[in-house]
Amino acid sequence: MADSIQSLRFSITKRYGAKTVLAGLPLEIKGREFVTFLGPSGCGKSTALGIVAGLIPPTEGEIFLDGQRIEHLLPEKRGFGMVFQNYALFAHLTVFDNVAFGLSLQRRPADEIKRRVLEMLGLVRLAGYEERYPGQLSGGQQQRVAIARALVLHPRLMLFDEPLSNLDAKLRVEMRTEIKQLHTRLGLTSIYVTHDQAEALSLSDRIVVLREGVLMQVGTPQEIHDRPKNVFVADFMGFRNFFDVDLRQTSAGFVEGVGKGMTLRARASEIVGGSAAVMAIRPEDVRFGGAADDANVLRGKVELVEYLGREQESAIVIEGGQRIWVRTTDKVSVGDTVAVTLPPDKLVLLPREG
Ligand SMILES: Nc1ncnc2c1ncn2[C@@H]1O[C@H](COP(=O)(O)OP(=O)(O)O)[C@@H](O)[C@H]1O
Ligand SMILES: [Mg+2]
Repeated sequence: MADSIQSLRFSITKRYGAKTVLAGLPLEIKGREFVTFLGPSGCGKSTALGIVAGLIPPTEGEIFLDGQRIEHLLPEKRGFGMVFQNYALFAHLTVFDNVAFGLSLQRRPADEIKRRVLEMLGLVRLAGYEERYPGQLSGGQQQRVAIARALVLHPRLMLFDEPLSNLDAKLRVEMRTEIKQLHTRLGLTSIYVTHDQAEALSLSDRIVVLREGVLMQVGTPQEIHDRPKNVFVADFMGFRNFFDVDLRQTSAGFVEGVGKGMTLRARASEIVGGSAAVMAIRPEDVRFGGAADDANVLRGKVELVEYLGREQESAIVIEGGQRIWVRTTDKVSVGDTVAVTLPPDKLVLLPREG
């Protein structure tokens, strides 16, 4: 139902005084894509979204919507929908009037307004709530009103700024499914800001990882999850084991890294130039057991165990003192001597940072 755009392309810089908040952030988004800006608090996500929306002027840069420059356009002329963390509903207006607000400003006929508002409230599962006030709704319901208020105007682009951050964990998971379904069903183009990597993975066609205003990696959820390109992205995406190594040799697509108390084989990667590198692996990719002469088998002692319900995450200290985190359904206890295997195809090779 939305008039889908073909593409949004921008390159934006934002400075406040001497502080650079966005350093020439470049991106191209295709129509019907769901793109997420992911990064820790303060990395510039909301600033980037605000600049696209027209709420914040860029210091430098250009924004092209379907080939036309739009930096000079006022927010209301851009035809974008916005949903914020704090809902930003009109407290003194009913649900119906909140959703009708933009259509009323456009002076649409009353019967069209009624039809479109009721249809949209049905879509966000709020049929029957028309006469309530925001204060009489739960957080999740208020956020659905905010989404309906944006969608009823058939936005060319939907901008979401941490819309689920004020909701409790269970509702957050339900609402993200609803947002993804609306996106697909209505053929929307969406930019979504979050600091929650699980949200980004489950919602996105592509994820843009930011660190202090600098683009660290753009990729599909699988690329970002399985093949991070640097220590920052790997750490943010849940890798918990990082080993400084010196790369020794390459053989048939594999390299060998020598670190403190360990020699590890990993798949070669074009990301790393030179011999100083980092090898990283997720706790859930490390296994207990392994024969002494197999590749990447290390022996150590269980130092501590974190109970996670179905699984446990254990810290194993190997000879030489390095700690390896292992997440499995196998039960081990503090003090046990164990062998762990770090499968070579699960080890990710990353550049060493300066
Ligand atoms: N109006 C402002 N004046 C000065 N600094 C600002 C202003 N708005 C944001 N910042 C700074 O810009 C950086 C990025 O902010 P923001 O885009 O809100 O980050 P995020 O949404 O990723 O948490 C932060 O360091 C923040 O303090
Ligand atoms: Mg923010």
